[in-house]
Amino acid sequence: MIEVKVPATSANMGSGYDSIGIALDLYNVIQMEESDHIDISDVAGASIPTDESNLIYQCAKKVYDICGKPLKGLKIVEQCDIPQTRGLGSSSACTVAGILGANALLGNPLDRENIIDLAASIEGHPDNSTPAILGGFCVALLEYGKVWSVRVPMNGQVDFITFIPDFELSTEKARAALPQTIHHHDAVFNLARAALLAGSLTTGKLENLGVAMGDCLHQPYRFDLIPDGREVMHAAKAMGALGAFISGAGPSIIAVVASHDKTYLSRAQMYCEQNFPHWKPIRLVCDEVGAVVRTVS
Ligand code: HSE
Repeated sequence: MIEVKVPATSANMGSGYDSIGIALDLYNVIQMEESDHIDISDVAGASIPTDESNLIYQCAKKVYDICGKPLKGLKIVEQCDIPQTRGLGSSSACTVAGILGANALLGNPLDRENIIDLAASIEGHPDNSTPAILGGFCVALLEYGKVWSVRVPMNGQVDFITFIPDFELSTEKARAALPQTIHHHDAVFNLARAALLAGSLTTGKLENLGVAMGDCLHQPYRFDLIPDGREVMHAAKAMGALGAFISGAGPSIIAVVASHDKTYLSRAQMYCEQNFPHWKPIRLVCDEVGAVVRTVS
């Protein structure tokens, strides 16, 4: 039996729309072995697709097809702690788990670069799939089926206080809300901030983050799809975050907080309980390891 553990990811980080992402310490853990039929279950008994429409199965099957290997079936056991449709990379984690699990079952015919390219091509969001594989803070873009990426070392201790609402927002809907064209000024606004963000996280110049996470390409449009999102973001900053952003396509909101601010989480929890009880803040940190594959008995 192969076990694959894949971290959650937060794409965009405000200014880095479709290009920047970070891995976080919340995981989907998937066990997989070959079988003569499809047998898919969830350890918590959650309702999940148990046939060939299952995303993990589909991604595993894709690897078998690419490698020209027949596949009768797979036994897959899922433990998915990354909440779905909340902007935390749950589908990327399943995509990566399917690819890495099948690759391990086949004796690792695909190398890391093949895996990064395949995950982004299937998933469509290299800013999620790449940090899910590599861990850490990544800049990534997909061009003609190939991912160009770098994992950028981070300097400075920060926590990612993640405000998760009790409602979902599909990426499809969140992308459909964006305008077809943007003004030159808006492109420059984000370009400068995304570059500043990468440089500031690398050098530890954390006082830049508030400005560097600014965005006018996607968040202003997506807030209309996130009830109370503007208020939560405003409060997240007002409570002392270095910067804040919509995680991926939303609806979760992340406040980047200096790790030495030990009371931020309890302040955030109290604020939500009193004002927006359907939002729950949790503390996450950067996952530095990325996806891990191991053999279990
Ligand atoms: N960069 C993508 C978006 C991430 O914001 O739509 C989707 O998970």
